[in-house]
Amino acid sequence: MYTLVEVTHQFTQRTGHPPTLKVRAPGRINIIGEHTDYNQGLVLPGAIDKSLFFAVRPNGTAQLRCWALDIDAYAEADLTAIVAGDQLWFNYLLGIADQFQQRGYALPGLDIVFGGDLPVGAGVSSSAALECGMAMVWNTLLKVGLDGPEMAQLAQRSSHEFIGIPCGIMDQFASLNGQQDAAILLDCQALSCRTVPVAVAGCEWVLLNSRVSHNLADSAYPERVRECQEGLAILQKHLPAVTALRDVTPAQLTALEAKMPALVYRRCRYVVGEHYRTLMMIDALQAGDAEKIGMLLYHTHIGLSEDYEVSCPEIECLFGVALQHPGVYGARLMGGGFGGCTLNLVQSAAREAFVSEALAAYEAAFGIQGDYLPVRLVNGVEVV
Ligand code: GLA
Repeated sequence: MYTLVEVTHQFTQRTGHPPTLKVRAPGRINIIGEHTDYNQGLVLPGAIDKSLFFAVRPNGTAQLRCWALDIDAYAEADLTAIVAGDQLWFNYLLGIADQFQQRGYALPGLDIVFGGDLPVGAGVSSSAALECGMAMVWNTLLKVGLDGPEMAQLAQRSSHEFIGIPCGIMDQFASLNGQQDAAILLDCQALSCRTVPVAVAGCEWVLLNSRVSHNLADSAYPERVRECQEGLAILQKHLPAVTALRDVTPAQLTALEAKMPALVYRRCRYVVGEHYRTLMMIDALQAGDAEKIGMLLYHTHIGLSEDYEVSCPEIECLFGVALQHPGVYGARLMGGGFGGCTLNLVQSAAREAFVSEALAAYEAAFGIQGDYLPVRLVNGVEVV
């Protein structure tokens, strides 16, 4: 865990100079709209007050030299011949350099020291924070003038091309465009967004970190993307106006069930339902209807678990405790799946008891100490 002051201090210690640029890049949560982004649907994420801090200074060479404080690692690369190496965290940074280079920018060598309080593997998008912080660094140093949504697209492209993950745009968009005290409703088709207050009177949003992230996530994610594409291709034969799963209504999907493999149908049923649940969530939040909000979270979880099959026993355990708890309105797996956090809407008065009960049950079942991650919603990536 490093603060901005400590990262700055470490920079000076390691390079012998103070940094000339400092950037804060936050992680994200997602209230609802899971696995809808790559289907051009709606998502409702927000940037959180857990970040990576970057301290940066041009070093007068062609080398990118990087210290990752949280994992005590160092890597360097020649920016005139960018190739992926064997350290994933460094590849996330190189991929962004590669994107700016592809746009014709000559990249100066940099010294970078980064660290923060954003947990890795907790489903709060530390990798997007890496990409987006780095995008802000180059955007600022090279005076490129990209805005937040443009940097998010650049970072997503880097994930696709350099890392090889066919991710949607939600994580990068949230990290870059988050707003203080609000979530952002992002339409991934139009790439338009607006802020949505998500505070619910008498309640708290509670994140419980399972502290597991199964390898399966790496292979299952592209598999789900492919299954959605397969479903879309079948639907388009009958619904030529449809360009993405988000365009399909639940009734249209039901009518075409017999045309597709059962598994592909279930994947599509989840995605189509989730797009509509996100719309319903906006109304429920506006009405401050905790029961309704909670019910939508539960439905999303059931869909992710049974139709989309991206849950795991550890998450089911945390979910199960929430489901039984009288002080909890709703809960769900948050993020891509196979570990990470559950997101819970809990009565403020019940928060302490729920957190300790859930973590005790979790430790008894799996021998793992999960943790409670208090978060606030904050602005997106910025130069500090
Ligand atoms: C990961 C991806 C996102 C999104 C979520 C699931 O976090 O990076 O683009 O698809 O999973 O909602």
